[in-house]
Amino acid sequence: MTRQKILITGASSGLGAGMARAFAAKGRDLALCARRTDRLDELKAELAQRYPDITVAVAALDVNDHDQVPKVFAELSDALGGIDRVIVNAGIGKGARLGSGKLWANKATIETNLVAALVQTETALEMFNEQGSGHLVLISSVLGAKGVPGVKAAYAASKAGLSSLGESLRAEYAKGPIRVSVIEPGYIESEMTAKSKTTMFMVDNDTGVKSLVAAIEREPGRAAVPWWPWGPMVQLMRVLPLSLTKRFA
Ligand SMILES: NC(=O)c1ccc[n+]([C@@H]2O[C@H](COP(=O)([O-])OP(=O)(O)OC[C@H]3O[C@@H](n4cnc5c(N)ncnc54)[C@H](OP(=O)(O)O)[C@@H]3O)[C@@H](O)[C@H]2O)c1
Repeated sequence: MTRQKILITGASSGLGAGMARAFAAKGRDLALCARRTDRLDELKAELAQRYPDITVAVAALDVNDHDQVPKVFAELSDALGGIDRVIVNAGIGKGARLGSGKLWANKATIETNLVAALVQTETALEMFNEQGSGHLVLISSVLGAKGVPGVKAAYAASKAGLSSLGESLRAEYAKGPIRVSVIEPGYIESEMTAKSKTTMFMVDNDTGVKSLVAAIEREPGRAAVPWWPWGPMVQLMRVLPLSLTKRFA
């Protein structure tokens, strides 16, 4: 099934902007949102020039402004004449060692990556239930599979929560009509990873986005991307002794 009308949150940079370019190249119509609207406007202009036959709608959205999420999703849906796929992608990688006095950083990460993702999920499901179909994509992380020491503890917890939410929804909608995919990217170049010390198996943005989009199009229940090495690696991470998890942090 071709999902023609795709909404992506956090589309102003990194994986979100990369996915927008890749889906535009496939001729899909796009609803893009983020806080940095200058970036969204530039991306819209670029896509309109390269792919004049598609529709691209953009909107300002801070996903932590919970009341705004349904309003903006509805506006974008009106602009495109409906939404077939919502990609919950907006996220941050702030964080500090637990107990180091920087609760604000860890709280911000859990609020954006998990609580705001819940708000986006509820909104998308209401839309899909009303129209009788839709594909919900949750951009989690390979770190959703394992707790890690240090600055990424809250980030890993936020993604574990998101993966769990997705698993519950996959059980809820096992017989459809809504499809739910939990996507677990490994390390892919982006603004977020530029600030991170971890470079383990890092791939460039194009390579990462290519596997991400290919996985989303297959509509799996769950997929680690790029599959190699992260498919087997995620299985290994689940059973890895905690003393060996530092390398992922
Ligand atoms: N890159 C990786 O290796 C990797 C690995 C695993 C998972 N991920 C996940 O992939 C997603 C995208 O990350 P990225 O690597 O592409 O990082 P990025 O380049 O920093 O992009 C993050 C995106 O999220 C948006 N965002 C952040 N806070 C937001 C808020 N409060 N409201 C609305 N939008 C917000 C940003 O837009 P504005 O700042 O303009 O609002 C930006 O477009 C995240 O969920 C991340 O956890 C990435």
